[in-house]
Amino acid sequence: LPARTLRRALLTWYDGARRELPWRTPRGETPDPWRVLVSELMLQQTTVATVQGRFEPFLARFPTLAALAEAPLEEVLHAWQGLGYYRRARALHACARAVIERHGGRLPLTADALADLPGIGAYTAAAIAAIAGEEAVVPVDANVERVLSRVLAMEAPLPGARPKLRASAQRLAAPERAGDFAQALMELGALVCTPRRPACLACPWQRWCAAARRGDQESFPRKVER
Ligand code: ADE
Ligand code: SF4
Repeated sequence: LPARTLRRALLTWYDGARRELPWRTPRGETPDPWRVLVSELMLQQTTVATVQGRFEPFLARFPTLAALAEAPLEEVLHAWQGLGYYRRARALHACARAVIERHGGRLPLTADALADLPGIGAYTAAAIAAIAGEEAVVPVDANVERVLSRVLAMEAPLPGARPKLRASAQRLAAPERAGDFAQALMELGALVCTPRRPACLACPWQRWCAAARRGDQESFPRKVER
């Protein structure tokens, strides 16, 4: 597939379709890494709608990484109320303390260094590195897997096909607008290439999408029968 063409089509679409969300900065502005870290942890297992209402109050209580690292764990857990999965609040606390100890309080902004921190998995590391560090990495979650498996009409089933999908995603990466590209892919999966009845007529990738060409979108991603 023509990586540069796909990338440009997606970014042009995103410029018109992107939602204003509390953790998104206006186009061209670099976001605060702390806000990106908090938002990505919250968005791991909580919907955008719920995070939208909880994000600013949490940031008001913990405006910086240092502020959260200094706070007792109980206060962080309390402020996490309404978001569920408290394991992430513990992880955030451990992560903030590790950044103080190992990195002098500055969050590292490469996916490799981020993935070494407690509580940060490969997906979150790539998301933060792309959005806050403009590193040319592509975070691949279930939404992105769905989009790419459809564009490629990938016959290999999940979970075995995961490494291949990650490699396909990474081939689309580029250093210019890496953060916008990551968020554009997330946005495409959330708003257009939905699990049921994807809105292919509104999709910037329709021309190149092998599943749409066949009218067989919903059969991807293939999954191992169980
Ligand atoms: N899901 C995970 N990260 C996200 C982000 N930055 N924006 C919207 N949805 C997301
Ligand atoms: Fe998904 Fe349809 Fe776009 Fe293909 S054309 S990526 S199936 S929304």
